[in-house]
Amino acid sequence: MAKKLIVGNWKMNGSRAFNASLLADVLQGLDGPMSCDIAVCVPAVYLGQVMQIASGTPLAWGAQDVSVHEQGAYTGEVSVAMLKDFDAHYVIVGHSERRQYHGETDAAVAAKAMAALAQGVTPIVCVGETLEQRESGRTEEVVKQQLAAVIHAAGHCTSELVVAYEPVWAIGTGQTATPEQAQAVHAVLRAQLRAASDNAERVRILYGGSMNAANAADLLQQADIDGGLIGGASLKAPDFLTIVNAAN
Ligand code: PGA
Repeated sequence: MAKKLIVGNWKMNGSRAFNASLLADVLQGLDGPMSCDIAVCVPAVYLGQVMQIASGTPLAWGAQDVSVHEQGAYTGEVSVAMLKDFDAHYVIVGHSERRQYHGETDAAVAAKAMAALAQGVTPIVCVGETLEQRESGRTEEVVKQQLAAVIHAAGHCTSELVVAYEPVWAIGTGQTATPEQAQAVHAVLRAQLRAASDNAERVRILYGGSMNAANAADLLQQADIDGGLIGGASLKAPDFLTIVNAAN
């Protein structure tokens, strides 16, 4: 089984003062031996600050989105090379907020994942169904279709991905999937990865969607839940550390 991975997704939150204080508290709490991997995905403008503070610590960092283009006339975009310039290890691609508010398609998400992989930045590929899709019994079909686009593009590099199952109805709502509900979908994704890659066990499948200090341990005990993608609770050091400890 792969080492567990806990990733904070700060979303569009933070300030230089807030980040410094949050990271100081998190790093202070990471004093013992770590058996899991930990990272924070931060707004791109703060990558330099996080690099400065977290270099040489067990905490890795990454971004929340990236351009498919290498460079040039793409106003407002940030390239993979720019993320690498700040030693970013991860980039979230296809978060439901990007799919919903920025019209990102499965093809665009796959292209972003490929751009990241090509330069050695690990994409965290998000998939997940809406409440309406779940209620109409389409959960499996939806997540498989979202992941298929990326697997198809990644081919033999599929084992380099991190996948995050984030039911849209659970994100920021306080309504977490039960461990059984989450495990059922993770098992579907694992089977899909196995069919595509001999190294599917290496792929970390994270759960995200109102994971918090109280429910993390139960979720992380499930056979195919290899970590968490944490939004709200990653902005509070004690909560984030409790989740890290549950994975450790
Ligand atoms: P949440 O967000 O933990 O605040 O629900 C998770 C995410 O969207 O990555």
